[in-house]
Amino acid sequence: MHPAVGFIAVMDTDAVAAQKLAKDIGADFWCTDRHEAMSHPEVNAIIVATSEHEHTHPVVDALKRQVPVLVEKPIALSVKDADLMLKTVAELNGDLRVGYSRRYKTRYLLAKEQIIQGRLGTINGACARLYNSRSQCFAMLKRNKEATPVVDALTYYVDLMGWLLAENPVVEVFARGQKGIIHAAGYDTDDVTWAILTCRDGAVVNLGVSYALPEKWPSVGHSARVELIGSHGALLINDDHTDQVMQTDVGFPHVYLSDHKIETVFLESSTPGDWALGDFLGPIADETRAWLDYLAMGKPCNLATPEDARNTLAVTLAIQQSARTGKTVHIE
Ligand SMILES: NC(=O)c1ccc[n+]([C@@H]2O[C@H](COP(=O)([O-])OP(=O)(O)OC[C@H]3O[C@@H](n4cnc5c(N)ncnc54)[C@H](O)[C@@H]3O)[C@@H](O)[C@H]2O)c1
Repeated sequence: MHPAVGFIAVMDTDAVAAQKLAKDIGADFWCTDRHEAMSHPEVNAIIVATSEHEHTHPVVDALKRQVPVLVEKPIALSVKDADLMLKTVAELNGDLRVGYSRRYKTRYLLAKEQIIQGRLGTINGACARLYNSRSQCFAMLKRNKEATPVVDALTYYVDLMGWLLAENPVVEVFARGQKGIIHAAGYDTDDVTWAILTCRDGAVVNLGVSYALPEKWPSVGHSARVELIGSHGALLINDDHTDQVMQTDVGFPHVYLSDHKIETVFLESSTPGDWALGDFLGPIADETRAWLDYLAMGKPCNLATPEDARNTLAVTLAIQQSARTGKTVHIE
């Protein structure tokens, strides 16, 4: 427990989920009505971690309580919903941050530091590709068919590039995709999507995603590569997690899929992080701690602003649009 946290209320529309989470984390209070949770006198900061299509109203209601709010990525599934949140922030002078946990993964923090120290010079090109199993893809799409691998997963790397190549927004998007097993299962979603993004100064960024890898692919989250080419240096980041491979006859649990077990696993591939010796380690733990340090001590944090997250959403939607229409999309 962070020393600044003295009380936790848990709210979920699903009473069983609310009760279980409250028990697991030793919460002080649980309920199924967000207004009851948010108006509890002890509540002075709110984390919204509802399903992707259920962010907007909880975030707006939380901002109306005049407390700092952290919402999980993506900020929303439509620009209209994101704009409603930004409008509420502006009207109420609200404090909203968006959780893009790659910003708290050590290897990407180190990349940001090298850029700040000028060791890469001007970044002229970059690429990132992301793989995951089709099992996780189907779980995401089942929740909401708009939460596609591009909008819900590649979004992390759009945000990451936006953060690393700061002050150099994407102005043009061109993408291609290929349909396969995901489409055959009834979803209007590509198996593979590749995009070329052009930034304001002309830097080109290649981003790609496939969430169609075999059902029992050994990763329990992202397998990624990120590469940055600058005028003074280049940085290649292997985030595939193939450096820690375990084989087990008794099965390894999947973080998102309760009835899914794999025998070969890339350890540390769980996107939010991992449990070890009773502690949760990894990006989400570090991100949450950084947000609480920011609230409790005023320490600056790297969490995405609502404007960052809104721009990231617009780019992911443009990637999908370009892949669907075959046309280049310009971002305003
Ligand atoms: N940063 C990361 O590493 C990371 C990893 C996984 C998920 N996420 C993000 O976290 C969010 C939640 O993901 P998840 O996989 O836990 O989703 P989920 O859909 O499995 O679970 C979300 C919970 O929210 C509850 N819920 C849905 N609508 C609600 C509402 N209106 N009010 C209250 N409760 C509601 C559901 O009952 C469920 O228990 C998503 O935005 C997702 O993209 C981030």
